[in-house]
Amino acid sequence: MARRRQIYEGKAKVLFEGPEPGTLVQYFKDDVTAGNGEKNGIITGKGVLNNRISEYLMQHLHDINIPTHFLRRLNMREQLIREVEIIPLEVVVRNVAAGSIAKRLGLEEGTRLPRTIIEYYYKNDSLNDPMVSEEHIAAFNWAAPQDLDEMNALALRTNDFLMGMFAAAGITLVDFKLEFGRVWEGEEMRIILADEISPDNCRLWDTKTSERMDKDRFRRDLGKVEEAYQEVARRLGILPEA
Ligand code: C5P
Repeated sequence: MARRRQIYEGKAKVLFEGPEPGTLVQYFKDDVTAGNGEKNGIITGKGVLNNRISEYLMQHLHDINIPTHFLRRLNMREQLIREVEIIPLEVVVRNVAAGSIAKRLGLEEGTRLPRTIIEYYYKNDSLNDPMVSEEHIAAFNWAAPQDLDEMNALALRTNDFLMGMFAAAGITLVDFKLEFGRVWEGEEMRIILADEISPDNCRLWDTKTSERMDKDRFRRDLGKVEEAYQEVARRLGILPEA
């Protein structure tokens, strides 16, 4: 088979040219990194699980009219996606204090936040993805103010939906990161969800025990990382019962 043209290789995913113009193939690797590459490893089977989990969540978001880049899953590790112009921001949505906000503001991990908080980080590995404000985003024209409004609205709707979906599976959605991209439909530009939604970029805690079921198991050397991702998939009804 002819080798497809690789467009981009990230820490956990590779993008290849797609079969039709305006499409890409997103390949999910088992590689895992934390602390912007300071810590590296392999979680066997992670790519397969994240491909399925992201497919499942994005399909459900599509069903409630949240536009996403997901088109269809191709095989165990690959999905067909729409090619987008990535907006260079990581949009973090937080419901419960954990990770960097807990450290930065001296909050105890697990404290419910007074309201959902959205934060923006500038996507730039060499700068360690610094946190930025709406002022920076407008001044450097990373996103127009109305585009940022649209991203906020989509992020909040995504949060409402995913919180409910995970709650039904006995999982608390503590926080997560989204990325958005621009697509052009005729003259019109639309903003759609891109990247992936998986235990790599969400904090998911067992609602009863607060046990971590996400990448923090790798970041904090808690062990049983693959098992935790599998359990997320199983509770969402993606994997058959063991
Ligand atoms: O580390 P921090 O607490 O800021 O992370 C918030 C959320 O964003 C977590 O769910 C984390 O997995 C996700 N995140 C990510 N990619 C990054 C930084 C954070 O997916 N580069």
